[in-house]
Amino acid sequence: MKEKLISQAIRVLEDNFQEGGFTIPCKGLYPFQWKWDSGFIAIGQAYYDASKAKQEIATLLDAQWDNGFIPHIVFHNESDTYFPGADVHRSDLSPVASKKYKSTGMTQPPVTGFVLEEMYRIADDKEDMFAFIKTQIDKVYDNHNYFYKNRDVNDEGLVFIYHNWESGTDNSPIWDDIWTTMNPPEYTFERRDTTHVDASQRPSKREYDHYLYIIEIAKENNYNDAKIAELSPFLVIDPLFNAMLIKSNQALINLYIRIGGNEDKIAQLKKWQAKSIEGFNSKLWDDKLGAYVHYDLRKDAPISFVTSSSFAPLYANIPSQERADALVHTMMTKFGGEDKYLCASFDPESDRFDPKKYWRGPVWINMNWILFYGLKNYGYTDIANRVKEDSIELIEKYGFYEYFNCKKGTENAGYGGGDFSWSAALLIDLLNN
Ligand code: SER
Repeated sequence: MKEKLISQAIRVLEDNFQEGGFTIPCKGLYPFQWKWDSGFIAIGQAYYDASKAKQEIATLLDAQWDNGFIPHIVFHNESDTYFPGADVHRSDLSPVASKKYKSTGMTQPPVTGFVLEEMYRIADDKEDMFAFIKTQIDKVYDNHNYFYKNRDVNDEGLVFIYHNWESGTDNSPIWDDIWTTMNPPEYTFERRDTTHVDASQRPSKREYDHYLYIIEIAKENNYNDAKIAELSPFLVIDPLFNAMLIKSNQALINLYIRIGGNEDKIAQLKKWQAKSIEGFNSKLWDDKLGAYVHYDLRKDAPISFVTSSSFAPLYANIPSQERADALVHTMMTKFGGEDKYLCASFDPESDRFDPKKYWRGPVWINMNWILFYGLKNYGYTDIANRVKEDSIELIEKYGFYEYFNCKKGTENAGYGGGDFSWSAALLIDLLNN
């Protein structure tokens, strides 16, 4: 069974690999290179083709901007199966954008640092992988420097996102209350996602109006971060995003120590790390919910809902053991019933929960992967194994989908894109652990 699933997963990744040296998340729906997808994909590729894994990351980092920013989509090719494309995002408006690649002017969770460390862990030929890491690691450091210099507006070690697409959890109910503070125009455009996927599994037209409106504001200001921080109606500290940054800080520290020298960078990373962990624990912990939450910088108030992002700090060793115990208790009480697969992306007890719609409830394999390792960090081996077994069962039963219904016994519980790259890539890793 294991061997068969692994070879199916490799086939998915190979089918999605493109000539330009990158892998699309899935055919039709997502025809370019996405930042955090790329990272998870490289982890899977490292098991069977280290050269592809290296290429994946090198290609992504080749699209880095002069200020260290790494965009969320790199438009390597022309494709009319996706909206909004390069002509909407217009990265050329920024004076520091890559001259070589068109891209978006927003980013995605900073996974690349820990991905480099994972690639080293997985590689058979450690020497070869280490040589590669040495050629790339400074670019990831520059990316972290970009975040702390430009996006930590309160100087508290926590960086903002200015768009829901930066969070990765694109249409989470978390954003609903932000949309009510905005009144964007009714744009005229042709959706492409709903030609590939049933509309009931995707965001609404009105939600897209909000998404486009924020991009227009960023474009009017040439993607200048200070202006965005001042003017964007969406400005949030996201616990998943910041946990990924913290996990990647630690990975960079570990790798630089292995490389030797680099004392200044190690010292700087340690400074960022200590401040971020402290800021995270004091600003994002909600004692009443027993969970980490998002923080709305526009309203200067927490957004009090439990999502799968609430549990990501376990992966980055952010909570104390005591706090981790409370967090896992919350997770198991709300998300962990025997009738459900772990782990829904949004609180199943909330009236905003929707088990079918994009990030409003379904199970995601990348979040399960983060949770698997996070739970193991704190000694929750049995629950970690349940997350792993649930992930394997969902893919075995329904296929390599983008997301899944958490309710057990659902017919056709696989939703969104099919033959989805990170579901395949991370399954390979889970099956090897
Ligand atoms: N995944 C988003 C979309 O739905 C963009 O990153 O198009």
